[in-house]
Amino acid sequence: MNNDNIIAGEDTLDPQTLLKKQAGESAAEHVKDGMVVGLGTGSTVKWTILKLGQMIEDGIKIIGIPTSVRSEVLAREAGIPLSTLDAHPEIDLTIDGADEVDAHLNLIKGLGGALTREKIVAACSKKEIIVVDDSKLVDVLGTKAPVPVEILPFALEPCKISLAKLGSEPVLRMNENKKEVYKTDNDNYILDCRFDSITNPVELEQRINNTPGVVENGLFLNLIDLVMIASPDGVRTLPDQFS
Ligand code: 5RP
Repeated sequence: MNNDNIIAGEDTLDPQTLLKKQAGESAAEHVKDGMVVGLGTGSTVKWTILKLGQMIEDGIKIIGIPTSVRSEVLAREAGIPLSTLDAHPEIDLTIDGADEVDAHLNLIKGLGGALTREKIVAACSKKEIIVVDDSKLVDVLGTKAPVPVEILPFALEPCKISLAKLGSEPVLRMNENKKEVYKTDNDNYILDCRFDSITNPVELEQRINNTPGVVENGLFLNLIDLVMIASPDGVRTLPDQFS
């Protein structure tokens, strides 16, 4: 497919979408010929995926490992050859979005629902870049976003009770029509757990994941190498350099 057809002209984009596009496209510059690339999920990394499609048209050869059905469909449309973790358990570089980013490169992810596959892919990646606009930066995790927790449907009520005991207000995620329960690509539910502020994310991540019935949670700690942040002043990185 010619990717020009699926990339809107910049003059039609609202300011925040334009920032997402700038962050997403900048990260694609880190993708080199021959790489196995983890493809994150969301409206920011969408621009990375489309840019990678253009780079493939221009001759680069890469293999993508998508983190969601949504990204798989988008990547196929963009012409990115795809594979699986079974065939490629070691990923050179993953690019993904985030819902909150703190100064230590720790994240909340999963408002898009793909947290479990995203965390597995992140753990299999030699390097992970996060692309965000500057509205995602926070001093303390939990300031704006709830922590999404993917759970087995069988364990809904016990998980609600346990996660409330950890100090959150768990809310079962619904589809946009508010009538059906949202289901992840793994056929599980998500409890969005709002915590007042998360002062010890390492302990909280362990306690959430020690709850029977919890599959994974959206705290991404010590998994990220670089965050690319788009603001009206341009795209800056945290830390300054890719180490
Ligand atoms: C999906 C995610 C997304 O990366 C996160 O929600 C950010 O999405 P967007 O770039 O659309 O704001 O974690 O599970």
